[in-house]
Amino acid sequence: MSSALFDLTGRTALVTGAASGIGARLAVGLAEAGADVGCLDLDTQIDHAENTAATIRSLGRNATALTGDVTDAASIEAALDTHLRQLARLDIAVNCAGINHSCPAEDMADADWRRVIDVNLTGVFTCCRAEGRHMLKTQGGSIINIASMSATVANRGLLQAHYNASKAAVKHLSTTLALEWARRGIRVNSISPGYIATPMISGPEWKPKTDRFAEDTPWDDSELPTTSSAPPCSSPATQLATAPGPTYSSTAALPAGKDVCARLGCSSSTPDRWRACSGRAVAPA
Ligand SMILES: NC(=O)c1ccc[n+]([C@@H]2O[C@H](COP(=O)([O-])OP(=O)(O)OC[C@H]3O[C@@H](n4cnc5c(N)ncnc54)[C@H](O)[C@@H]3O)[C@@H](O)[C@H]2O)c1
Repeated sequence: MSSALFDLTGRTALVTGAASGIGARLAVGLAEAGADVGCLDLDTQIDHAENTAATIRSLGRNATALTGDVTDAASIEAALDTHLRQLARLDIAVNCAGINHSCPAEDMADADWRRVIDVNLTGVFTCCRAEGRHMLKTQGGSIINIASMSATVANRGLLQAHYNASKAAVKHLSTTLALEWARRGIRVNSISPGYIATPMISGPEWKPKTDRFAEDTPWDDSELPTTSSAPPCSSPATQLATAPGPTYSSTAALPAGKDVCARLGCSSSTPDRWRACSGRAVAPA
């Protein structure tokens, strides 16, 4: 990636779910492009969020670890206030916090359905609303929501009706907010990663499934991509964050209202398909 083209120097980002996995990698990726970053996660994960912030500081950028629960609007508003006090600006928000859970639909408890929808969907809306209110005042910003390939495809063997439904809704929420806010200076997009080996899918119960994903990967690779081996995750976020102008258009190269597929290592994509998908959605203007 060209650093001149994707330069975030002088910009400030807030990343939720920044203590672990994809969120931690995205936070560092934005810092590598020059941004200062607020790293938000649950208070139980503050040490890990602090580790992400320390990595960012070691790159010469400013970073702060913030506690917040995306299911609690007051805690997100308070975290955003702290972010603005400590880092002064909010140009980019990456809403990555999420959970997974597996259960056959016919046995699913109401509480499990609600928990996944609360964190993955309502949590993203709660963050977008707080970030959007601030960005509307400052008349500019880029919001990037982390959906999933499960927003679009239902993968064999995964019993996660609530997760898939939440991610499909995040994708459409992003398009809808893009339409509402594009003319007022805010671009909203989503990224749909494929499987990436993070704590979310690394428990023993996931082993048979991840073995199968790796087996189905359409090239000679026995491992799932990790957050260090999978560039599609950090590069679309940086590319979306650096995009010029708030344009809602189906043809603009770096628009608002787009879902960028970053699929690697999954049965439903091939390298060619990934390249085609990624190239179309994120190629610079
Ligand atoms: N790993 C994959 O294969 C994959 C694929 C597609 C999409 N995703 C999505 O990417 C995002 C990150 O997933 P990951 O794989 O890095 O998982 P992860 O478990 O490593 O990280 C998720 C982070 O979100 C935080 N979080 C959970 N609930 C929260 C809450 N209520 N408030 C604030 N923070 C909260 C967790 O503490 C954790 O740090 C999720 O939205 C996930 O659905 C992951």
